[in-house]
Amino acid sequence: MRIAVLKERAAGEARVAIIPETVKKFAALGATLAIEEGAGGDASISDQSYADAGAEITSAAKAVEGADIVLAVQAPDVAQLNGAKPGAWVAATFDPFGQKDRVEAYAKAGFEALSMEFMPRITRAQSMDVLSSQSNLAGYKAVLAAADEFGRAFPMMMTAAGTITAARAFIMGVGVAGLQAIATARRLGAQVSATDVRSATKEQIQSLGAKPIFVENVAGIEGEGSGGYATEMSEEYQKAQAELVSSHIAKQDIVITTALIPGRAAPRLISDAQIATMKPGSVIFDLAVAQGGNVEGSVPDQVVVKHGVKIMGYSNTPAHLAADASALFSRNLFNFLSAFWDEDTRRPVLDEEIGDAVRLTRDGKIVNERLLG
Ligand code: NAI
Repeated sequence: MRIAVLKERAAGEARVAIIPETVKKFAALGATLAIEEGAGGDASISDQSYADAGAEITSAAKAVEGADIVLAVQAPDVAQLNGAKPGAWVAATFDPFGQKDRVEAYAKAGFEALSMEFMPRITRAQSMDVLSSQSNLAGYKAVLAAADEFGRAFPMMMTAAGTITAARAFIMGVGVAGLQAIATARRLGAQVSATDVRSATKEQIQSLGAKPIFVENVAGIEGEGSGGYATEMSEEYQKAQAELVSSHIAKQDIVITTALIPGRAAPRLISDAQIATMKPGSVIFDLAVAQGGNVEGSVPDQVVVKHGVKIMGYSNTPAHLAADASALFSRNLFNFLSAFWDEDTRRPVLDEEIGDAVRLTRDGKIVNERLLG
């Protein structure tokens, strides 16, 4: 069983799909690891540390030659997989709804694309879930980045020169990233409030010491769809939410938006007119900027100033914490493949529940229900 890992090719991608710790763990299962030279450089992992863990360090072409499995953060172009075994698996994020051409190219080339974004939200798959692990870090980083752009302090400070009041932070969307954003903003000393369409998050917000801001008494209030994901909300709800947000947002210094709906553009949560009601110097960090944005006027990797308010967001937030993000991503991949390891054949054999959920292509065809449906 040969596992190959290449240096990520996407612009701004600083993460890597394997760390020395997981090299050792895969080796203990009987796999050999081939890693492209410099693959971990942007995540502060040297070739030497991979070699010390037992990996072969080589060129991209040689790493892939004869590979049974290729691991990546973002799925490589099919052209980079020349020489991999027929039917080889590629476990990575595929952005399956956004990159349909790439999925088709994988099918045509006969590879099995295993899309880590499609990991089912079931208890036993929690440790395999890259969306969770990366969102967690992204929620943290969003608050730090916003704090850095903010021309004021977060905590209340009583000084001889007078008192500085605590910043008010509002977190919109309380999934994995939002929960971490609440915790981080609280740790920095802000007064935190938060909202979501899923009413189950109310208690979670309170348990972190933040104030829940929720639309009440509107039909179709429960926004929880399958797998714990949000659904698209009714028009009536959206209107009520916009009114609620308008009155609340005008008093905020920091807003972090994290709302996503799988397979769709991110919902628009903040309009330009609402931004205009905010205080000059306030900062909005749009964590959904790469999925279309929750905030009108947000541009990936830029700080846009509108009505005196700074609007920002990264195209790839986890890449700004590449060392930790790589470590968690790599452990997710290891937990996934090792859970299905067959002792006799020394290769993984996926079960139906998880295999069918993550597998996009097989035997020359697209096989995933979510893409066929
Ligand atoms: P996500 O990244 O898909 O969305 C972020 C948040 O935005 C969600 O809480 C969503 O409800 C919210 N949202 C969507 N539209 C909104 C709108 N119009 N206004 C306000 N908020 C809106 O969600 P994420 O972070 O992946 O987690 C969602 C849930 O799934 C959580 O309860 C989480 O704990 C659960 N989960 C379970 C896992 C497992 O059991 N293996 C793994 C990962 C998450």
